[in-house]
Amino acid sequence: MTEVDGITIRLGSPADAAGMAALLNGVIAEGSPVLLTGGFTDEAERAFLEEMPARGGFHVAEAGGGDGHAAPVIVAAQVFVPYAPGMPAHDHVAEMGTWVCAGWRRRGVAGSLWEHTLAALRSRRFSKVFTDIRADNLDSLAYHLAIGFTVAGTARGQAVMDGRTYDVVMFERFL
Ligand SMILES: CC(C)(COP(=O)(O)OP(=O)(O)OC[C@H]1O[C@@H](n2cnc3c(N)ncnc32)[C@H](O)[C@@H]1OP(=O)(O)O)[C@@H](O)C(=O)NCCC(=O)NCCS
Repeated sequence: MTEVDGITIRLGSPADAAGMAALLNGVIAEGSPVLLTGGFTDEAERAFLEEMPARGGFHVAEAGGGDGHAAPVIVAAQVFVPYAPGMPAHDHVAEMGTWVCAGWRRRGVAGSLWEHTLAALRSRRFSKVFTDIRADNLDSLAYHLAIGFTVAGTARGQAVMDGRTYDVVMFERFL
């Protein structure tokens, strides 16, 4: 796996709820063109992580800690879940989301997370992964193309956020 200096990547657990909520709230607060709205409390995030289907999971990238320094901080995460739990026709498809805090972008963190996620998806019997991205999220479009996703199509007017309507690009990658 390609590792990034100063970053440790590991599988997450519900104990990471507060760190995950802080990461997601930071991405929302900066006005990033993501499909998340509002914000996440630690409790809501813990409930989401505890109820995650068994084949789902997430990797976190942590910075800091060690040698008596402050506790490590989650600076990025990649979540993967079954696309449509309970629908056997979609059993082989996972869905994923990726977030890197502003100060750690363009250093290969999401690329490194993907290597861990790819291995986990294969070992959990997924053969395809899917994600949907706001059409104006140029960083995310570039990232997913860079890790081998292709465009399956564009859903017009798929997202309405703060009174504005956005197209959403559907991306897929076979594993
Ligand atoms: C999209 C996002 C996850 C990319 O994370 P990252 O850690 O910066 O990505 P990496 O540094 O690992 O980039 C891997 C490759 O993706 C491509 N890429 C990533 N960001 C890019 C950008 N802003 N412009 C052009 N290419 C980009 C490049 O090919 C890059 O390889 P390179 O640096 O060798 O050229 C990050 O920008 C992010 O979290 N944005 C805010 C939240 C978000 O939009 N999440 C996605 C929701 S769908």
